[in-house]
Amino acid sequence: MRKKIVAGNWKMNTNVKEGVELAKALAGRMSEVPSDVKLIIAPPFTHLTSVADIIKGSGIALSAQNCADQSKGAYTGEVSAAMLASVPVEFCILGHSERRQYYEETNEKLVKKIALALSENINPILCVGENLEERESGKLFDVIGAEIRDVLFTLSPEQMAKVIVAYEPIWAIGTGKTATSDQAEEIHAFIRKTLSEKFGALADEISILYGGSCKPANAKELFAMKDIDGGLIGGAALKADDFIAISQSY
Ligand code: 13P
Repeated sequence: MRKKIVAGNWKMNTNVKEGVELAKALAGRMSEVPSDVKLIIAPPFTHLTSVADIIKGSGIALSAQNCADQSKGAYTGEVSAAMLASVPVEFCILGHSERRQYYEETNEKLVKKIALALSENINPILCVGENLEERESGKLFDVIGAEIRDVLFTLSPEQMAKVIVAYEPIWAIGTGKTATSDQAEEIHAFIRKTLSEKFGALADEISILYGGSCKPANAKELFAMKDIDGGLIGGAALKADDFIAISQSY
């Protein structure tokens, strides 16, 4: 049985006080979250230690949104996987399309980041997805296939077992346009098939999340699909009511 996961990517939103309040609101409502659903929140770096204190013992897991591609040293402004592990942080989003688009995050860098995260016992959440032009020109399978192969095929099966994949079509992020459940399922199944080329039956154990304008109104239909194991939520993760409602959408 694959894990059902609802993860909230807060992106660059909320100040520390607001973030702590949101985490408190979620921690206080965990009895409303189905027991077989894992809730993960990914606040900004500045919030991590305060939020870690708030959610301790609540069942909510903590994630970072990125980590450095170097282990330590003279890299001003960077945050290492070891620093995150010391918070402690259990998960780290890597390769989000906003990082690929604005911060030159390449598959090459992601190979380093994923290895560093895993070496600190942090579970990576690797994001993949196509932009509108790539979808319309039919290049989406090549793009997503390369994002999977170039990064995840460098891992051992033991390492791969710790990874979560998130399919986030770039054209659906923050736009209000959601992939239809059939469009999303087609890519989730493709990702699983691609993973099986290298990892065989282990591919069936890997959780693959959908992200891109996922909200209470469409989560149920998406999560009902065979290869969709939950969601990576942006905007709707900033409202406790919506985030909890999405967790109840299985
Ligand atoms: P939205 O849910 O705001 O579209 O963002 C999705 C996302 O990028 C999550 O990582």
